[in-house]
Amino acid sequence: MKSLLDRPVPAAAAPLTVRRGAARVLLDNWSGTSTVPSRTLYPHQWSWDSAFIAIGLRHLSVRRAQQELESLLSAQWADGRIPHIVFNSAVPNDAYFPSPDFWHSSTAGRAAGAPATAETSGIVQPPVHALAAWLVHRADPRESHRRGFLARVRPRLAAWHDYLLDRRDLGGGGLAAVVHPWEPGMDNSPCWDEALQRVVPAAPEDFQRADLDHGHPADRPTDLDYGRYVRLVSDYREAGYDDRAARHSFAVEDPCFNALLIVSERALAAMAQESGADTDAAAHTARADALTRHLVTRLWDENAGLFRVRDLATDTLVEENSVSGLVPLLVPHLPQPVVSRLVDTLTGPQFDAPATRLVPSYALTGHAFDAQRYWRGPAWFNTAWLIHRGLRTHGRAQQAERLRQGILQEAAHSDFAEYIDPTTGAARGARHFSWTAALTLDLLSADLKEPTP
Ligand code: SER
Repeated sequence: MKSLLDRPVPAAAAPLTVRRGAARVLLDNWSGTSTVPSRTLYPHQWSWDSAFIAIGLRHLSVRRAQQELESLLSAQWADGRIPHIVFNSAVPNDAYFPSPDFWHSSTAGRAAGAPATAETSGIVQPPVHALAAWLVHRADPRESHRRGFLARVRPRLAAWHDYLLDRRDLGGGGLAAVVHPWEPGMDNSPCWDEALQRVVPAAPEDFQRADLDHGHPADRPTDLDYGRYVRLVSDYREAGYDDRAARHSFAVEDPCFNALLIVSERALAAMAQESGADTDAAAHTARADALTRHLVTRLWDENAGLFRVRDLATDTLVEENSVSGLVPLLVPHLPQPVVSRLVDTLTGPQFDAPATRLVPSYALTGHAFDAQRYWRGPAWFNTAWLIHRGLRTHGRAQQAERLRQGILQEAAHSDFAEYIDPTTGAARGARHFSWTAALTLDLLSADLKEPTP
């Protein structure tokens, strides 16, 4: 059977119509200083969403794309962390759980450097921001220089990466660890199931979910998952969000998270070069090279043909195959045999979705596969965009183009859905989802010869 990357793509909606639809989503979801991922399900600012959104917004307004990133960076903590949510104080507390009165960032996080004026979460999300900032800069370098964009964001982004490599190298192997399933952004992936077994769930009466007001229970994580998410946050909060004091009962090294850190280190090197800071550029490049070696040494699984999550409690690789393990295709200078195996896995039966032209979040053949439920099978647009970029990085131009066409087609068919059932092609989760629209716009607009950092 031909793989999804080899099948012909049926006629898609006219690019101009799709472009207009995508732009409309981003305009509607603009809150005045940043973009909400979804008007219903996610009514605040989310960290990695904003980075993907800026990548699309740069095609509509470079200044707005800069503002998207800078509004997020203005809530950065003094220890360098970029919080995964920046709360909009105009939104009522019951619109989203966990709300500011659960995180208590400005009080519980004060010693760790949480801002006094903005309420945020205390955990992080994947470091795609420097890549986004570089792409925003490249969209109009003269305007960027004129407004001093790089000069403002570069030190903040460098501090963010320092936080991850200093405070979060919990395994001591040179990679950044995540301490909550919301941090790698793939909340209920089967990759976390075993590690989460060790977390005592909070009692159901201790919290009130808000996501089920807008999302279907079959699409969302379970109540038991939420009990564990809540427990992990309250333990971290009680430790003052201090990584040195906290006893993390969940700590893993995630391939997607670290691949994005590598690519973002390279983006920082490119920004430093552009700013005439050659010593910084060399340091970021050396760090990206070291991270690439650690990624391969610690997370590559030769037998499985993809990268895997390392559970730091047992210091073993988790035997689950998820899209996170394919995203490192994004990393330049990977050993060629690793690239070839990754492409084989991507196009083989585990990730060749029967009904969509995207990549399922978890292997179709995996024991925990669930076609509907959040990160346990559905196909997402951001991971497809990252893999598309990876295919281009490694000279797989034809396969990249097929995936690009597939992303555009699914985005248009699904009304810019949050994610898609890979077995039926049905749209799932929120509609008019900002990063789906933004990345669609990017794939319609980007100069595909644009240099990768
Ligand atoms: N993705 C999580 C949620 O569903 C938290 O960022 O709320």
